[in-house]
Amino acid sequence: MARLVFEGLAGSELVAETFGVADDPGVLLIDDGARDWRRIAIALAEAGRYVVRLESDRGDEPEAALAAIRAVLASLEARPVLLGAARGALLAAMVAGEAEEYLATGLILIDPPAVSDARRATALAALRQPVLVVASEADAAGVAAHIADAEFVASAASAEFAASDADDALSAVLLDFLERRVPQSPPEYRAGSDQRTLRDALGCFATGVTVVTTRTVDGTPVGLTANSFTSVSLDPPLLLVCIAKSASSLSAFEQARHFAVNVLHIGQQPVSGRFARRGEDRFAGTDVETWDSGVPILSHSLASFECAHEAAHDAGDHVILIGRVERVRFEPRRDPLLYFRGRYRRLHFS
Ligand SMILES: Cc1cc2nc3c(=O)[nH]c(=O)nc-3n(C[C@H](O)[C@H](O)[C@H](O)COP(=O)(O)O)c2cc1C
Repeated sequence: MARLVFEGLAGSELVAETFGVADDPGVLLIDDGARDWRRIAIALAEAGRYVVRLESDRGDEPEAALAAIRAVLASLEARPVLLGAARGALLAAMVAGEAEEYLATGLILIDPPAVSDARRATALAALRQPVLVVASEADAAGVAAHIADAEFVASAASAEFAASDADDALSAVLLDFLERRVPQSPPEYRAGSDQRTLRDALGCFATGVTVVTTRTVDGTPVGLTANSFTSVSLDPPLLLVCIAKSASSLSAFEQARHFAVNVLHIGQQPVSGRFARRGEDRFAGTDVETWDSGVPILSHSLASFECAHEAAHDAGDHVILIGRVERVRFEPRRDPLLYFRGRYRRLHFS
């Protein structure tokens, strides 16, 4: 065990105990003070986790406690799993659920208090990480209603948790969850592995988001959200976007002599959602203009590239569409809409 001192609020010091090796994947334990966590922390460390136990007794001031947890998270080099018990579970869920960024790789909530207000319900509903809830069956049902896809383990109802080796039983439950849902060795894709792993790997490449537009032969505007946009050449000026063969507008893009790529700014997330969903009038409620070729240009985008169809190459389940840029307009002041690990993001300057 070692001690770490973090810079807290207004120059205050936050002291934390650490267990294990700092290079191992982290678990930030937000202590409720009701249980002696030492044996469990040691068990996790022996199984290859770096446990930081935050000693933050800030009474009834949730804002101060939340700020303290955020300060510790900001100072850790990699995002940990948040493990909170009782009031600590509530704080963990609020920190992760209210953050715009992905602050934690998973959450373990032990005996979380009842969800008694809208703020807590919203925070729980916003969790996108793997979540384990250890609670009595009655309490678990209340929390379950708010978190999609959480795993539950009954605590009070289970004989093991009441026994003298309760720490061992709880450690085993925690390690089983961590090893399955937040594995220590990074996931690996090999040819033939499942497609989901490959998607997750490709999702490590952060991109902007575009809406690619054109018209069908009868003049109907079509478009879809695409993040496969890449610049190709300056001379001649070429860019590309990959369109799925399953996209309903593929034939329109293959046949049209022109298309446009509209790069979205941070305020256009709803536009991205609309152009990725089926069964909606994608152009309704979106300001559209035309320039020289007549293809729809989404007004006020971060940048719009009007292109002549240069080539279309068959590539697996996609078609690589190459455009020769004829006209561009861009907005130098706004921030881009970003996409990373399957979620929309914004630029973050620290
Ligand atoms: C952020 C994001 C990026 C996407 N990137 C692409 C892409 O590069 N190529 C593609 O064909 N579909 C992409 N899609 C999916 C299409 O937008 C979506 O499947 C759309 O519904 C296809 O149009 P369709 O409904 O007319 O077939 C993306 C979706 C999102 C949300």
